[in-house]
Order: sequence, then C-alpha cells, then structure tokens
Amino acid sequence: MNERLANIKQEILEGIKEKATSRAAAFELRKQFLDSKAGKIGQLMKEMKNIAPEERANFGKSVNELKEWAQNQFQELDERMKKRELEARYESEKIDVTMPSKRGKTGNLHPITQMRNQLIDVFAGMGFEIYEGTEIENDYYNFTALNTPKDHPARDMQDTFYLSPEFLLRTQTSAGQIHVMEKDKPPIKILSPGRVFRSDDDATHSPMFHQMEGLVVDKKITLCDLKGMLDMFVQKIYGENTTTRLRPSYFPFTEPSVEVDVSCFECGGKGCKLCKGTGWIEILGAGIVNKKVLENCGINSDEYSGLAFGIGIERTAMLKYGINNIKLLFESDIRVLNQIDDN
Ligand code: DAH
Repeated sequence: MNERLANIKQEILEGIKEKATSRAAAFELRKQFLDSKAGKIGQLMKEMKNIAPEERANFGKSVNELKEWAQNQFQELDERMKKRELEARYESEKIDVTMPSKRGKTGNLHPITQMRNQLIDVFAGMGFEIYEGTEIENDYYNFTALNTPKDHPARDMQDTFYLSPEFLLRTQTSAGQIHVMEKDKPPIKILSPGRVFRSDDDATHSPMFHQMEGLVVDKKITLCDLKGMLDMFVQKIYGENTTTRLRPSYFPFTEPSVEVDVSCFECGGKGCKLCKGTGWIEILGAGIVNKKVLENCGINSDEYSGLAFGIGIERTAMLKYGINNIKLLFESDIRVLNQIDDN
C-alpha cells in the first residue's frame, strides 16, 4: 500500500514537471488527484473499507498526509503559474516609452477647399468680407443687371443651364455683385466664393466649377487699385517674384475690361511649356465696374467707381499644383488628393 502512495507522489511530481504548462493545465492535473470523487487520492479514501482494521488508522494517516502534501504542491504550482502568466502578460504589454510614436494618418482638405481658403486668407488680409450668394439665380441678377440684357451677344460666352425661362443655375459669381450693391452702399469690399455652372466639358472645363468674385466700390477706385491687389494676390499664391500684366478685353459688366496674366512662376518669365513659351499665363478677368451696373443698383456713378475681378478656383489650383486635367479634382482619387497638402 505504501508503494501505491509512493507511486501517486511520484506521478504528481512528474505531472507537475511535465504537464503543468499553464494555470489551466495545472488545474486539470490537480483534479486528477484531488477531485473529491474521481481524484486518485479520493479513491484511496474509498478503499479504507477494504483495509484490515488494525492497519486502517495508519493508512488513513498516510493518505491524509499525502493529500495535504499534494494540496501544498498544487497550491505552490498554482502560484508559480499565476506569477509566470502575469509576467508573460506584462512582457507582452510592455511599452517602450522612449520609442518615437507612430505618425497618425490624418486626412487633408480637398485641393479646391485648400485653394479657396488660401484665396480668402489673402483677400481677408486686405480687408475683404465674404458674401456667399445662391446657386440658383434669376435671369436679372446673372445677366441683365450685369449689363447683359436678353439677346446680348455676351450671353453666348457662357452656356447656361436654365431651370425655367426665369431661373437658372448661376454661370458666374458676378451675380453676387448685384445683390451686394442693392443691399449695401459704398464703401463695399467683398469676396464671393462659390459654385458656378455651365454646359461645358473638356480637360480644362467642368459643368460645375468654383469662382471667387471680388468687388470694391468706393470713391476714386482705379485700375491702379486693381493691379495692386492682384499683384499682392499672385505673390502670395505663386511666389514673391511673380507679377501681373493687364491686357485689354471685354466683359459687359466692366469698362474697361482686362484679362490678367501672371508672370510664369515655373520659368520666371523666360518661356517654358507651362506658359507656352510666352512667359505669361492667363489667370483671370477683371475691370472697372461699368457705370451702368452701378446705376442698376442705385449707386451714383459720378461719385463712386468700382473694381471687380473673377478668379477661377480650379484654374488657380491646377496652375499652382501642376494638375493638367480638371477631372482629377473631381474624381476623389486618393493618390492625387494625398499629394496636395498645403494647409
Ligand atoms: N464673370 C466672369 C466670367 O465668369 C469673370 C469676371 C470677369 C468677373 C471680369 C469679374 C470681372 O468681376 O470684372 O467669365
């Protein structure tokens, strides 16, 4: 009998050495010996009745000793396992606070929004306030009040989406000029960014695009004021060494009208592919507000004069970021958008 007890002891020691690889495994092992019903030591107790009466006391004592010994063994084993598992967890969760942090990936603003914000920053710095008009206009604000009555040939310059004979999707942010001049009296200095719509679609035109209108009305406003503001604008957007050149042009709502070129910021004016060898790139239309437009809004054109300009936001962005197809700005291709992060 003593031999059986010795064997069980041996089995426990070997089990602890070989099988107890985790706390759960140790628990299973403990059950094999100490489970009150199926455990090997419990079984021994049940055999008591088969033992000769004179040996019972001794047997019982030995089994109890073995049980106590086994309980201690498993208790210690459990503590060792607990410690080991905790250490393994600490090890796996260890953080090296001296490691440089991983750079979090944040999104960036859309190039058109970036360009719009940059333009607003430049002109807000010169004291312009923002006026946001509406995308649906009536014929009067988009054309007639801007000195472009029905059948005026200049209407052909902009292929219009009509919603009804009266209403249309605005073709130009210039419509905002009229609203502002009807509402406020000079001095006026506003910037009006927004979407405009034209039935036009190729590599450099899109049926929907963005413009930024500028309007200044005050006493003694001249083309010199316009040139000064536009020079400031191109220097801030395209670099300090850029300048502008005004060429005569025609818009019904300005007289005189000018087309504004910027000196080529790619080649510094020497002539390259971007400026098609001319050293200049056309960027916007502008002029001195036509007296008729001021009068249409009830502003005395003998007392006041105004300047106006209309900037294409996509065009400004395409030139600045070297984008050759306007569609790239509307396709939301993340590989393109990721490359433009200026704000
Ligand atoms: N509205 C014109 C266009 O869309 C651009 C423009 C030209 C706006 C001259 C102006 C201006 O304010 O003075 O083509």
